[in-house]
Amino acid sequence: MQTLRYMATSAFGLESVVKREAANMGFKDLKVSDGRVCFDAGLEALPKANLRFRCAERVLLVLGEFTALSFDDLFEGVKALPWEQWITKDGRIAVTGSSVQSRLYSVSDCQSIIKKAIVERLKLTYKTRWFDETGPEYKIRAALLRDVASITLDTSGAGLHKRGYRAVAGDAPLKETLAAALVSLSYWRKDRVLLDPVCGSGTICVEAAMIAKNIAPGLSRKFSAEEWPQIDSKLWKDARKEAYAAIDVNFRPEIYGSDIDERVIEIAKANASKAGVDDCARFERKPLEDVTLPKDYGVAICNPPYGERLGLSEEIEKLYKDMGGIFGANKTWSFYALTNCEYFEKLYGRRADAKRKIYNGGMKTDFYQFYGERPARGHLT
Ligand SMILES: C[S@@+](CC[C@H](N)C(=O)[O-])C[C@H]1O[C@@H](n2cnc3c(N)ncnc32)[C@H](O)[C@@H]1O
Repeated sequence: MQTLRYMATSAFGLESVVKREAANMGFKDLKVSDGRVCFDAGLEALPKANLRFRCAERVLLVLGEFTALSFDDLFEGVKALPWEQWITKDGRIAVTGSSVQSRLYSVSDCQSIIKKAIVERLKLTYKTRWFDETGPEYKIRAALLRDVASITLDTSGAGLHKRGYRAVAGDAPLKETLAAALVSLSYWRKDRVLLDPVCGSGTICVEAAMIAKNIAPGLSRKFSAEEWPQIDSKLWKDARKEAYAAIDVNFRPEIYGSDIDERVIEIAKANASKAGVDDCARFERKPLEDVTLPKDYGVAICNPPYGERLGLSEEIEKLYKDMGGIFGANKTWSFYALTNCEYFEKLYGRRADAKRKIYNGGMKTDFYQFYGERPARGHLT
């Protein structure tokens, strides 16, 4: 089978998490750069990667990479790629682009040149001068970085954070991919209690439950490449079947979410039910100051309200201090928070054991990590 080059894109700061996911799926020749993890694999990896990546944003096929210092270079470079291998005669072609530190900086001009070059190539293959573009969609992404053009085909369509379980969201919901990454970056293991005391629409709890039950995140949605006739539908069917068979239906991790807002608790319950994890992710309305820890050696992971540009409100400062009071008081608990507050540790009352810079929708945030004592061997059984 032909080896293809894939690119899994990620939020800045999460590349190592996506790399670990790719390695766990058995993908080889992993190369990491800003916001990207590339790997080589056959066509059968395409459904598998889309269905199973929890933290990547999209799965792209890398069709070509070349230096483009002029529009001519771009046109010829794109025209030389084997588009007929992917795009059908009736395919709908959409090109998006970006340009960073490159001579070709007009993204709209690059987009129309790329589309022209693809059409020129397809005219020769399909021996026609007119394409009515009524068939499957092919989203081409062109990224120019320091004069090197990466031309990719988007196999996912909607971003992979769209799992299909979030019908409704709270006011500032965390992206599902980022929530899954926070859980993966923590020391939580499925035999420990997990608690999000400011859970909003419950994304962290739902993602943790899906990880614990080994539910592939893409099982309830469709992907762009499913419409492509070049990919035998059996590959998708087999990948789905395998993912369903791997679900640990009877495993019930202990996962709790609470929030001061009754409305978001109802949303969290609806999301958990749609994701198939309402048997283990439990939600209740409770202000943070009333939270008690259900047992020892638990892990709290949260995304509390952030401050505005001018700083934190008194209310949020109190919330952060209360977090330190509750979770800092039990030495067996670990506590993790993602916030843009630069003096979170001061309010929490302890220096973090680790801090990781992560971009949350373009905003620089830190993932503060306070580790609790490790349970003695056999303690959690
Ligand atoms: C940024 S949102 C969390 C979003 C959540 N991660 C999600 O995916 O939907 C912060 C949440 O903190 C909650 N909150 C604010 N003050 C609180 C308090 N004193 N006690 C409990 N929850 C509080 C808000 O109601 C809001 O839902």
